[in-house]
Parts: sequence; structure tokens; C-alpha cells
Amino acid sequence: MTNFDFQGSRLTSALSEAVSVTWQSPSNIALVKYWGKTGRQLPVNPSLSMTLSNACTVTKLTASPRKKEGSVELDLLFDDKPNAVFGERMSMFLASITEYYPWLEQVSLKLETKNTFPHSAGIASSASAFSALALCLCSLDNEFLGILLDESEFRSKASYIARLGSGSACRSLFPGLTLWGLTKSLHGSSDMLAVPVPEVHPVFTTLRDTIIIVNSREKPVSSTEGHSRMNGHAFAEARVKQAKKNTSELLHILKTGDKKNFIRIVENEALTLHALMMTSDNGFMLMEPETVRIIRKVQEFRKETGLHVCFTLDAGPNVHLLYFEDEIEQVNKLIVEDLIKNNKQNTRIDDFYGKGPVKLG
Ligand code: DP6
Repeated sequence: MTNFDFQGSRLTSALSEAVSVTWQSPSNIALVKYWGKTGRQLPVNPSLSMTLSNACTVTKLTASPRKKEGSVELDLLFDDKPNAVFGERMSMFLASITEYYPWLEQVSLKLETKNTFPHSAGIASSASAFSALALCLCSLDNEFLGILLDESEFRSKASYIARLGSGSACRSLFPGLTLWGLTKSLHGSSDMLAVPVPEVHPVFTTLRDTIIIVNSREKPVSSTEGHSRMNGHAFAEARVKQAKKNTSELLHILKTGDKKNFIRIVENEALTLHALMMTSDNGFMLMEPETVRIIRKVQEFRKETGLHVCFTLDAGPNVHLLYFEDEIEQVNKLIVEDLIKNNKQNTRIDDFYGKGPVKLG
């Protein structure tokens, strides 16, 4: 799966004019969580996610002629404005991948990026941002090299590059359900890049994700810091074993359409993620009282009604409510009448099973 070549292409003659490319790429929500990494952004366990539809980043990358080659030259606009922190992160990322794209040091780059979801949503945007940028890089590289990759090879290459920017980003390259990390249960799976889950029962293509925003403030502990707390964690070995088992089971569940066991695994993963944070050295807690209230309510509601709704969490306090299209009405009633009732801004974001990135130009 990873034996494609990065040909390390340099431009043989200077660019004569600016070349631009634009991609829209979605965020994803993990069902089995990536938590802990090793080496060069390799996961310690396999993870599995659903690609979303509405939460996207749109990125335009322009390469312009440059007089003298040297270190990466980047001008970044986020929502039409310069953004020093984001610009620095993107510059460092680009500087770290010049071995794959030597032409990055031969052009001047302009990166214009926007998210289709509100800033205040508290949604992690690194998955959509790095997948969109990786797609732009791969498109420009193809153009410079004059090669035409088939669609699947192109997406795989972009997934590999996106991973180097942010681990979870490598799962955003494909529609629907995506797996990242080596598992015996899926031939072709890899730690280097994500692959689409090949067999998905139609019921899972009707999955919805409503994000209930509990708190949109910046997280006190970043994901990157959180991952590092898994080094030497007392439960590290058990966690890897559990994630491998959950991944294998979930792959089977996704094939057979077993909603009940889907819910069991998804909630087990969300609670495990937060338990690992709390039990790490220098433990921390990202759930808030309102997060706990919503979780309890969802579990009670499911018990009372027998409906198929469950929760998952990212590394933050906001709750992702997962449910199916045929029960939208009842779940919506729960959301409106209870889940967002303490929420001053009444913030919810409705999303669903997505089709993957789109090239806009
Ligand atoms: C809890 O992909 O944001 O959302 O690789 O350091 O950029 P970096 O971390 P990131 O971690 C995501 C962690 C998670 C679980 C998941 O998406 O699988």
C-alpha cells in the first residue's frame, strides 16, 4: 500500500507563471480513537472514523515564480487575514516535507484557507486543514511532474502527507468510514496512511452527527500534548490491545449492520479516551459537568426508548451525538427539549456521513 514513489521532484526550469489549486476537505469524527503516537507521526493503535459533510476546510494554494531558491516562503491568509500562529504551524509542516516535494524551496507559496464551520464551534480543524493542504500539494506536484495518478493512488499519497501534518487528517481523504493503522482484520491497512473501510452495511451510510457545543474555548491541553501523555502510561499496553480488539469488532459490525454493538464500541472508546487522560501522569480532565449531564441523559433516553443514539467525544468537552436517519425526529426532540437547554448560545452543529474531499479548482 505504501510502495508508491515520492519522486522528490524538483522543477527543472523556474516557473514562468503562478499556478493555483483549490480543494475542499472535511473533518472526521473518530469512532475508535487514535491516542498515542511514535516515530514520525505513526499511531500506536489503529483508529477508525467517519468522514463528515459540513465541517470542511477550503484551501487554495498558489505557487509563484521565485528568484532564488531557499527555505520555504509562505504567505498565509486564514479567513482573508494573516494569522501568525497558524502560519507558523503550516510553515514548519511544509519545511518538514521538502524531501517529498523539493520544489517547495523553489517557489513562493500563498495559502488561503477558510473553514465552513464557525470559529466558535470548538471543532478541531486540523484534520480538515491538513487534508486540504495535502491534496493541494499532491495536485501541484502532479502538475509539475506532468503525471496522472489514478484516483486511489492520488488519495493514498495525500493521506500519507496529511498524516505528517496531523495524524487524524489522514483519515479525511476518503468518503464514509476510514481506517488508519495496521490491523490484521483489514488487508492493506497501514500505519503510514488511511484506507477506506471496504464493506459498509447501508444502515451506516445514514449516520448523523450532531455536535452539542458545551464549551468552545481553546482546550487547556492540546491533542499533541495528550498523545505524549501515553508514553509510559500505566495502561498503555492494555489500551493498544483494547483498540485493536475494538477495531476488529467494529469492522465486523460495520459489515453486518449491528447497531447495538456499534453503540457499545463507540461509547466504550469515548469514555476510554477520557479515562486515559485522567489517569495519565499529571492527569487532566476535559469533560465538563454539562458533558457528563448530556452523556447520562443520552444513556437514559436510549434505555427508555430503545432508540439507537449514542455519544462520542473528541479531546474536548463537546458531545458528538451519533444516530440514524430513520430516528431523526425523536432524537431532535431530545436535543431541543433537553440536551441544549442549558446552552446559552443554543449551539448545535448538524453533520452527517460525508462523501470526502472535492477539488474546486
Ligand atoms: C482525540 O490528529 O489532532 O481526536 O497528530 O498531534 O495532530 P496530532 O493529533 P490529532 O489527534 C486526534 C485525537 C482524537 C482522536 C482521533 O481523532 O482519532
